[in-house]
Amino acid sequence: MVVAELVAPSDSNVAPSSASDKLINLFAFERTAQARLSPSARDYFASGAGDEITLRANRSAFERVALHYRVLVDVSERSTRTTVLGHELATPVLVAPTAFQRLATPEGELATVRAAGGAGTIMIVSTLSTTKIETITAAASGPVWFQLYVYRERAATEALIERVEAAGCSALVLTVDAPVLGRRERDVQNRFQLPPGVRIENMLANQARASLPDAPEDSGLAAYFASLLDPSLSWRDLDWLRSRTTLPILVKGIVRPDDARQAVDRGAAGIIVSNHGGRQLDTAPATLDVLPSIVDAVGRRAEVLLDGGVRRGTDVIKAIALGARAVLLGRPVLWGLAVDGERGAARVLELLRDELDRGMALCGCPRVCDIDASLVRVDF
Ligand code: FNR
Ligand code: LAC
Repeated sequence: MVVAELVAPSDSNVAPSSASDKLINLFAFERTAQARLSPSARDYFASGAGDEITLRANRSAFERVALHYRVLVDVSERSTRTTVLGHELATPVLVAPTAFQRLATPEGELATVRAAGGAGTIMIVSTLSTTKIETITAAASGPVWFQLYVYRERAATEALIERVEAAGCSALVLTVDAPVLGRRERDVQNRFQLPPGVRIENMLANQARASLPDAPEDSGLAAYFASLLDPSLSWRDLDWLRSRTTLPILVKGIVRPDDARQAVDRGAAGIIVSNHGGRQLDTAPATLDVLPSIVDAVGRRAEVLLDGGVRRGTDVIKAIALGARAVLLGRPVLWGLAVDGERGAARVLELLRDELDRGMALCGCPRVCDIDASLVRVDF
């Protein structure tokens, strides 16, 4: 056999292969991304607070749970489709809000919103995005939610909410686990800053809110939180937020059933069980461990989502089996962006969906609604 026969014929219609096509799972994206990011961006994305105990706990909670798969179920036809707050999605995996996506790729949030739309899911845009919300929704082909940080100057937040509604976002995600920024020691060491030209574009009208302050002995982001965001935020402010918007509100950063109940009592349509990817209070519990008690507390009154450490299709199955409606993906989307922009983020979402589909087949669950608690609790 001549060597030439072993080589696939060249076809000009086939898109050239790119860096991300060869990466076979999310951890491969992590490794490749680390090599491409600047040291400061790499540390900012990767860091947890303190000793990073919660960061690791989020992962090990998934690793501890076994899947008690069911056999001899016809899984010849399968679907990962589901609905989240009325949106029909191709997969129960949403894109978590993460700040400063231009640190990962020059297109920043535009790459993410295109990837999320292509994957048939929701992008949650951070208040601290490096592209303004109107530009992001204009490029969206799927639903966009907006994550809200509340500024001390309430009028700035009220104006932002109006813009977010006018831009066509379909829900607000109020993050409640960050009255101050968790101490990410690597960022403190690096005196984390945004590079020239990268700005908090939702806040361009006010120079102080659009950039990070110089902090000679701290992370610039920690200094930004300390000086501009409102640490007095309390339950009453959830009532305030409800009075300011007709959009459904999800409360993100809850790890206790009493807090979840209170949020729902005050009108939250959704709870996001989250410890901010281990970036806020170190030694907070792993999200998967607290999920069942929160699902019990909320019942059918609101949808419960979860994030933190989701890296495998089987992780998605475990979260859904323990009562989550869907999960959010934080860092892996940033790794995808860093490796290959929109295409990398799309590949990350595709890999996870393929893993989920295979895991569902092997669990005897042809549809998302077939994933039930018996998969994770033997005594059922
Ligand atoms: C975040 N997260 C976050 N959350 C939020 O509400 N607003 C934000 O602006 C950010 N920014 C942000 C930046 C970076 C670099 C990371 C890693 C995380 C938290 C995020 O929404 C989510 O809760 C976690 O990332 C989920 O954990 P995994 O998937 O990263 O393990
Ligand atoms: C973070 C903030 C911005 O985790 O939420 O870095």
